[in-house]
Amino acid sequence: MRLKLMVCATAILLVVWLMPWPVQGAKNACPLTVRQEAKATNAFKKLAPVFQEPRCLNCHGAVNPFSRDGGHGGGYIDIREETKKFLQLPDFQNSLTVGADPDGTRTARDIARLKEIAESPSEITDNDFIRQKAFDPMRKACKECHISSWIIPMRHNHFVGRSAKEMCVHIKTSSLTNQPDLFLRHMQDDELVLEGFKGRRGLLEPVGPEPPTMSFATLEKYANEWIDAMGEKFHRPPDCGCVVHGDYVLEFQSSIVSSDPYGDPAQSRASAVIRLEASEAASADSEINYIGQGMIAYQTGPMPNWEPCTALVRGQGTVPMRVFQAFIHIEEPSSESVISQKGSATIELLYGLLGGSQETTTGMPADINYKCVPNKPKPYSFWSSHYISGRAEDSTDPMKMFLLKDWTYVGQNGVVATKTLRSTCGGMCDQEVAIFTLREGDGSETSSSK
Ligand code: HEC
Ligand code: HEC
Repeated sequence: MRLKLMVCATAILLVVWLMPWPVQGAKNACPLTVRQEAKATNAFKKLAPVFQEPRCLNCHGAVNPFSRDGGHGGGYIDIREETKKFLQLPDFQNSLTVGADPDGTRTARDIARLKEIAESPSEITDNDFIRQKAFDPMRKACKECHISSWIIPMRHNHFVGRSAKEMCVHIKTSSLTNQPDLFLRHMQDDELVLEGFKGRRGLLEPVGPEPPTMSFATLEKYANEWIDAMGEKFHRPPDCGCVVHGDYVLEFQSSIVSSDPYGDPAQSRASAVIRLEASEAASADSEINYIGQGMIAYQTGPMPNWEPCTALVRGQGTVPMRVFQAFIHIEEPSSESVISQKGSATIELLYGLLGGSQETTTGMPADINYKCVPNKPKPYSFWSSHYISGRAEDSTDPMKMFLLKDWTYVGQNGVVATKTLRSTCGGMCDQEVAIFTLREGDGSETSSSK
């Protein structure tokens, strides 16, 4: 039995070693509740694929017509040549977009910039630089084949390589979209967004249209869901409404009583409080997975009626515990329902112990001249081996013996649900009880675990 348990514990330790542990986030000032954050984050995750649609992405960083290898279907555009041609137009000064310029200084400055581009000895592929110095020749070049408003965004507005979270933060902070109504209006009215949805690549003579696979109605739905979940405001910090911050707290309590005088007469208590945070590794449409790590503090000592002719087992210390994954679904009773109905929680939590407790035992004392003489204490893992033996009563597969399902919904005073386990430590103790309590976190604390 012992040997089997050792194998088990080693297997768990191995699994643990192979899993990377993410660095914890900073203090959270986001005013949204955990559930609002989760709702907002999920809605944005569903919205985010639209920014990666070729009809949007090709403008937002994926295509650069000013570079020979920029992937432009209309061919390479040498902005130096375009600028030279522009400067040779007899009335080019009239088509400069300089605004009010009574003394001509702006026009003079623009012409100087155009010449700088036209006479550049090396190729110019930087769109930001071109927009700044050769805006008019650039517009003119695109208009030959594309609609007149066709222009590609500045580098800081590229979507290429941005995760859903990064896009979310970008939308919330870009000067064009940093308020919910600005964002919605941009999505609904912007000429280039609308053109993107037509799927014609802004071409005057479009080939077969290829609109985004996400419909405009779907975009609107998720955009509104996201904004609604945030209470129709963009809150600080920038990632508020883009990620779920520290959110659930798992409390663990274990007690073991073992009175058999020929076994290990001892009792043990252990407890831990572990903050569960949403894992950032989650992919776009998978549900939120919570993870966390903390320390179980244990204390083991003799039974109250301990007598000297039995082994003395004692010790105290900590054992790291990790929650590898937790899926938490809560159905709250709807406030509108007339008949008072209870909510429910569907929770699946997989955890592991990352080590063993380190008590000592004197073993059975030697009997010398009718007197019990205790042996020297030897290392002995009491709490963890008894705890694991209790779990092994149900299954010896670590993926099953440390999986907590079928919780009891509470839904009161911040307690979401509880789960109680009972065993006789695989026959090695009188009684073993473990109570798991899942609470709502306030999302304001920095996780102390690393
Ligand atoms: C000679 C005609 C021509 C000119 C000039 C031209 N384009 Fe294009 N452009 C095209 C064609 C054709 C396509 C579509 C190629 C394809 O089928 O993938 C295209 C596609 C694009 C795309 C990808 C659009 C999408 O939805 O996939 C971008 C971005 C783009 N052009 C930007 C520009 C910019 C910016 C300029 C001006 C600096 C410009 N183009 C000038 C012909 C042109
Ligand atoms: C013709 C190229 C083009 C197409 C196609 C296009 N955009 Fe843009 N988009 C721009 C430009 C230009 C801006 C203004 C920012 C700038 O100039 O840097 C912009 C701005 C935005 C902004 C404001 C935030 C930011 O990054 O500046 C969002 C959001 C946006 N676009 C989304 C989309 C979506 C979604 C689509 C596809 C349905 C799309 N765009 C298609 C060129 C384009």
